[in-house]
Amino acid sequence: MSIIIKTEEQINGIRKSSKLAGNVLLYVADFVHEGVSTDYLDQLIHNYIVERGGIPATMNYNGFPKSCCISLNDIICHGIPARDVVLKNGDILNIDITTILNGYFGDTSKMFIVGQATEAAMKLVDATKHCLNLGIQQVRPGNYFGNIGYAISRYAVAQGFTVVYEYCGHGVGIEFHEEPQVDHAARKNSGPKMKPGMIFTIEPMINEGKPRVRVDESDGWTARTVDNRLSAQFEHTILVTGTGYEVLTDVSNEYMIS
Ligand code: MF3
Ligand code: CO
Ligand code: CO
Repeated sequence: MSIIIKTEEQINGIRKSSKLAGNVLLYVADFVHEGVSTDYLDQLIHNYIVERGGIPATMNYNGFPKSCCISLNDIICHGIPARDVVLKNGDILNIDITTILNGYFGDTSKMFIVGQATEAAMKLVDATKHCLNLGIQQVRPGNYFGNIGYAISRYAVAQGFTVVYEYCGHGVGIEFHEEPQVDHAARKNSGPKMKPGMIFTIEPMINEGKPRVRVDESDGWTARTVDNRLSAQFEHTILVTGTGYEVLTDVSNEYMIS
């Protein structure tokens, strides 16, 4: 096994799927409100993807039962949308979308805030978004994968937060989860080197308190903080170009192609 260098044709396919995933997050933003269930959001997301010729990759993935992951407050990741999970004022939530379009995968997630969150929650969300930005700035041919995690963890820890190390980013595009594993806490100049044509996610999960994860026994998926303090996450799918990066799931033109 090794890190796949994607062909031009594969890159074009993965770019289209990634744009679809990014557009799902833009679309669903209008429906994230107090009183709405996460299952309702999941239904909207399912229909949006299917109407555009895509398949929600999480559905039946290792038995996962829904079309996206929605992770509220102390849930780090892999929250299962449910009718009895109803959004309330002050909640922070991550919605994670993975699409399959013409056989190609795109994977992205972001945080949403319901009404008015606490200062502490906003600070965590902002810092986590910045962690993803810092990771992306490390993407260029010849740089070490470890420098992504080094940049992220240095900043997160300086802000008083911790980095979840039990889940990682990953190669993506032909399969849902490919090599390499992209650590969000790593040593400087460690790991393999990036090459043009590699495509992978960066998806830092940043905690207010302890970094450890506990998976709910009731469903085998829901990954929570051990101290029930807040966790946040942002994710993009990124291509290594000849000179830098292209954020394939960026549909808001937040990132220039470098
Ligand atoms: N989208 C998640 C990721 O970023 C994986 C979700 S797998 C599921 O890798 F089974 F929980 F849906
Ligand atoms: Co991912
Ligand atoms: Co994801």
